[in-house]
Amino acid sequence: SKVQIPPKNDLSSTIFTIFTFKYFTPLCPPDILRLSWSKSIMWPPGWRSGLRHCIAALAVPPETLGISLSHRASGWVRSVRPQKENLFLHVNDGSSLQSLQVVASSELNHRLLTFGSAVEISGSLVTSPSRKQDVELQADQIDVVGECNPVDFPFKIKEKHGLEYIRQFPHLRCKTNAFSSLLRIRSEATAAIQQYFKEKGFIQVHTPVLTSNDCEGAGELFQVEPAGQEKNQDEEGHQHFFSVPAYLTVSGQLHLEVMAGAFPGVYAFGPTFRAENSQSRRHLAEFYMVEAEISFTQSLEDLMKVMEDLFRSTTEHLLSQCPEDVALYHKHVSPGYRVRHQKYLKRNTMITYTEAINILNSSSKKFAFKTDWGSDLQTEHEKYLVKHCGDVPLFVTDYPYALKPFYTRDNQDQPLHTAAAVDLLVPGVGEMCGGSLREERLDLLKSRLAQAGLDETYGWYLDLRRFGSVPHGGFGMGFERYLQCVLGVDNIKDVIPFPRYSRSCLL
Ligand code: 4AD
Ligand code: MG
Repeated sequence: SKVQIPPKNDLSSTIFTIFTFKYFTPLCPPDILRLSWSKSIMWPPGWRSGLRHCIAALAVPPETLGISLSHRASGWVRSVRPQKENLFLHVNDGSSLQSLQVVASSELNHRLLTFGSAVEISGSLVTSPSRKQDVELQADQIDVVGECNPVDFPFKIKEKHGLEYIRQFPHLRCKTNAFSSLLRIRSEATAAIQQYFKEKGFIQVHTPVLTSNDCEGAGELFQVEPAGQEKNQDEEGHQHFFSVPAYLTVSGQLHLEVMAGAFPGVYAFGPTFRAENSQSRRHLAEFYMVEAEISFTQSLEDLMKVMEDLFRSTTEHLLSQCPEDVALYHKHVSPGYRVRHQKYLKRNTMITYTEAINILNSSSKKFAFKTDWGSDLQTEHEKYLVKHCGDVPLFVTDYPYALKPFYTRDNQDQPLHTAAAVDLLVPGVGEMCGGSLREERLDLLKSRLAQAGLDETYGWYLDLRRFGSVPHGGFGMGFERYLQCVLGVDNIKDVIPFPRYSRSCLL
């Protein structure tokens, strides 16, 4: 699998040593240089990984120094173009959307250099004569380290594959431009969310994945027991491994509420599970949720402020840190999306649930689901409301008390009895965040839990209201729904590496 090209320059390794030093001198602070010489792996972001240069870091044209550099690159072949004098390859290493142009002699036997094959190349990095790229690599040697049979490979060099097609190959789709962009965006958005909360002084809490509570009370739980019937009963005849039924978490909220008893702001960001038997474009059985809990709140506005801020700062971070990746989505996956997206960052709108119902009832549109006061808003209603209110993010507040879980604060209003809950609805998706003020008044909480027969189960939760309770509230943002909204992706299965939904758990 070696494709040997006779070296053009016997001195290339010496040149590498000398010019690596020269080339990087103006760009590296001295301590980083020292680290690079001692082969430490503490590289600044985007600079090099191990001893290799990431392709994304090759932005500075060597002409600025008037030299060509000996360089090694590795990655996967994205295109092969044999021409009369030269063979052109594009090699991508996942560090950015951009591939490195590699130029080799046309005499090179390129049978193994196929779309998708993994290669290591050494050669000279020079200023490219073409305007399409700053630099190109003139190859001295190309090693095919992993062959890729173009007949069997499900992605073809000249074809544009849609998201639905590539979704069939969860083990291979990271090799496509669209999905590698998505993975970089996801990673960057994760970092932006962490950064947002850190800057605002929130404490991150690792809430458990295994829990004995059903926070939302909707019964959409996956129960967890050891595999194999015999293990389900211990020597004392206990039916369950944990002595009580245990579930995969549907929300870390109640655990965050515990911690909100000692910190002004806490958050969690982790996998969340719902046994919703839904094949919809916005539901998964496993998704990631960002949850925040804020103490000493005055009103729902305190929560809305954090939701809006989080949305803006994460989105601005994405637009500035991965503009090419985001642009790929706005250009090829959801054309024209950018314009609307700019609008999102300008303003938000707010209506109450009762106003929302009035809007739906005065519309001439026929909805599949009921729209009378007291019914839950369905996706079709949410999408209509967003459009009606200017196609921008829309807060809907004060939902019917009876629709909301036991923890939601009672507005104690009449005759339309509501609770202090708020959802953030966004264009194309519908609900992206759900939150509420929590019932901090012991007597009201006690009687609601008693009515539901849950007062014993939630004895510890009532304790939170006995020992230094404060008004507090929080929300959860579906991370995949956020990505759908920012990128304009129609199906939630296309924004998570390995989607899990009813009747599908591939890999
Ligand atoms: O509205 P939800 O159910 O709220 C809660 O779980 C609260 N306990 C959160 C809190 O206050 N700490 O879920 C929050 C968000 C939804 O708005 C939605 O974006 C997302 O989680 N979500 C889902 N995303 C993908 N697939 C599903 N099945 C989802 N269910 C909820
Ligand atoms: Mg909700």
